[in-house]
Formats: sequence, structure tokens, C-alpha cells
Amino acid sequence: MTGASGLLGSEIALSVAGQGYTVFFTWNSSEERATQILEQIRWITPESQMVRCDVAKASEISRAFATFRAQFDRLDLLIASASNFFSTPLPDVTEKEWDSLVDTNLKGTFFTMQEAVRIMEKQPFLSRIISMSDVSAELVWQNFAPYTVSKAGIQHLTRIFAKRYAPRILVNSIAPGTITINPDKEMEPQQEIINKIPLKRLGDPLDIVKAILFLLESDYITGQIINVDGGKLLQ
Ligand SMILES: NC(=O)c1ccc[n+]([C@@H]2O[C@H](COP(=O)([O-])OP(=O)(O)OC[C@H]3O[C@@H](n4cnc5c(N)ncnc54)[C@H](OP(=O)(O)O)[C@@H]3O)[C@@H](O)[C@H]2O)c1
Repeated sequence: MTGASGLLGSEIALSVAGQGYTVFFTWNSSEERATQILEQIRWITPESQMVRCDVAKASEISRAFATFRAQFDRLDLLIASASNFFSTPLPDVTEKEWDSLVDTNLKGTFFTMQEAVRIMEKQPFLSRIISMSDVSAELVWQNFAPYTVSKAGIQHLTRIFAKRYAPRILVNSIAPGTITINPDKEMEPQQEIINKIPLKRLGDPLDIVKAILFLLESDYITGQIINVDGGKLLQ
């Protein structure tokens, strides 16, 4: 799993461990948080490991997979969750901001999935990939163009990989609505965000975890984007 040091990512990693999976996960800048999460995961599945990896660089993804291959002999599930998020008002988007968002989110997801399928396609059993996108891929957020474009790209990649690697590998995407709020990054007050959600609450990490567990149980779903957004897309 990439991005297990994230707010939502850490809950996902712990829940997957709770299903009995040994977790090999990446972090990039949050070493202390990643170390704490690994400690918690190891209470459940003691063989779990972590490695530092900047997913914006394909060479680092290759290196992380080389470490994975040296320690593990099978890959049942990839969750590609590493992501960068910040606002970028349209007229002022810089090349550096574009590269940071698109390279981490879209390029990182692509090369992570490419490495994973190289292992998975040789395995004589069904394996799964779950990408993490965002319902904003379908919304017109003028202050988040590189982010939303990267998430729309992830959704399209999900369909391409699903078609190419069927029937051996199931590839789906979870598109959360608003689950966690980082006050440094949000531009709208929390109550205004909630008012626009038909189910009148923010999502809980458990809402996302339930969707992931559903996909882990499903053998006949591939190429789908599962929106877990309290109806946000109905606006
Ligand atoms: N939380 C929400 O409300 C929400 C809503 C919609 C979509 N999503 C999506 O759901 C997924 C999980 O969200 P989250 O709440 O866990 O996000 P988060 O708290 O922002 O965490 C982001 C994660 O991505 C990692 N990351 C960032 N840049 C990276 C890079 N260059 N290389 C490798 N890793 C990098 C971070 O690692 P370090 O901290 O170690 O650098 C961290 O683990 C993401 O894909 C996000 O876009 C979340």
C-alpha cells in the first residue's frame, strides 16, 4: 500500500491488517507517524514492513518493489493511496505545483500499478488493485485543477488496467467525498461543506474502510469507481 501514513490511509492499512493481510507500505515525509502506524499494524500482522518511497519518482517505486520482492513471495492486494492535495487558483498554477500534484497522484499511481501487475499477473490466483481517487474528479473545482485532473486520470487508469488484466486481476477505485478536513488546505468552512452533502455529515474513515472490505469480498466487480460521498455528487 502507498500512502499508509495518511489520515485516511492509516485507517485503511489497519483495517486491511485486521483482515489478516501482512502489510508492506510506503511513507514519504512522515517517518514518525509511519513508525507509529507500523507498530500498531504489527500487533495484528507482525511480518508487516514499511519503506520510504517518493511515488513521484518511478525509480523510487521500482526500488520499493525490489525491497518488497526480496521479502515477500506474493502480492494479493495493492492499495494505491499516496496523494498530494493543495489548492491552486487557476490563473496562478505554476509548473512546480502542477508537477507536484500530477506526478504524485497520477504518475505515482500509474507506475505503482504497473509494478504490481508484473507480480500479480504471474500468480495463479485472483489478486486485487484498489486506487484511491476522489469524487472531485467529476466536479468542476476551479481552484484545484491539477488535483482533480490527476484524480480523473486515476479513474481512467483504473478502467484501462481492469480491462487489460482481467480476469486475473480485479482493478477498482474508491472515490471518497469529504472524509477528513485539513484546516490548512480547505478553503470553505466545515459547516458549508456539510450543508452541500445530502446525507448531512462528513464521511468517516470507516465509511471508506467498509467500501474497501466490500471490494475484498467481491469476485465479480472490476473497472468500477465506487463513490463514497454521502451523495455529494448529486449537487
Ligand atoms: N481524506 C479525505 O477526505 C479524502 C477525500 C477524497 C479523496 N481522498 C483520497 O484518499 C486517499 C487517502 O487520503 P488521506 O486522507 O490518507 O490523505 P493524506 O492524509 O493527505 O495523506 C497522504 C498520503 O500520501 C503520501 N504522500 C504524499 N506525497 C507523497 C509522495 N510524493 N510519495 C509518496 N507518498 C506520498 C503521504 O505520505 P507522507 O505523509 O509520509 O509524506 C500520506 O501517506 C488519497 O488518495 C486521497 O486523495 C481522501
